[in-house]
Amino acid sequence: MSKIELIITNNYDEMSQRAADKIIELLLKKPNAVLGLATGSTPIGLYKILIEKNNSKKISFKDVITYNLDEYCDIPKNHEQSYFTYMNHNFFDHIDINKNNTHIPLGEGDSKLNAENYENELNKTKIDIQILGIGSNGHIGFNEPGTDFGIGVHDVELHNKTINDNARFFENDIKKVPKKAITMGIKNILDAETIILMANGTNKADAIKNVMDNKVDINIPVTVLNIHKGKVYVIVDKKAASKL
Ligand code: GLP
Repeated sequence: MSKIELIITNNYDEMSQRAADKIIELLLKKPNAVLGLATGSTPIGLYKILIEKNNSKKISFKDVITYNLDEYCDIPKNHEQSYFTYMNHNFFDHIDINKNNTHIPLGEGDSKLNAENYENELNKTKIDIQILGIGSNGHIGFNEPGTDFGIGVHDVELHNKTINDNARFFENDIKKVPKKAITMGIKNILDAETIILMANGTNKADAIKNVMDNKVDINIPVTVLNIHKGKVYVIVDKKAASKL
């Protein structure tokens, strides 16, 4: 059995709410918390709830610091599908955060140097809560199956499965999907105090089963959560929990 705390919810909205509750609780206790943030469709509902709570003055992001997991290479920072754009549109533009306190790896330019710089930034801090989604092949951030659990921020050639999954954001045109990305390594993710993995939908059910079976398999990166020293919450909807 896994020591992970599993929370199964009825639907996407409830999943988002349960994850938001953990962040709200942290911010009320620690207004200058450090958050690790994710992109993709999974955390959009979470960001909406946090925006509402901020707009109604229940929580503030004034002193919050954020670090994102990953970014595409080969597209400009301001591309409509970059994670920089995603974070601004879906979260940062709508809250009282100081944008100087938001950090996203740089995908443009020399990716090795960008990785080294982001690693140095991360090593100066400690993430209180890291939010994670999962790729359908079990990747976290852009740590694809087979990635050494010990490496830090690095550039990565995306797997075909990931490129195909992400084509929906690029007019379903594989040619337009970036083939390379920069990502926090699993080492950086495991440095977080608390990790919240969110998943919804049946295409995440296998990955969730592998995690909850207490496996640790380099070919299913998300299973590394079983060796995290801190707290791990897996918050899923019924569909993602359907194979448990
Ligand atoms: C991308 C991101 C991951 C994210 C995954 C799942 O690959 N790099 O961080 O977890 O997509 O995306 P979605 O939430 O849209 O299923």
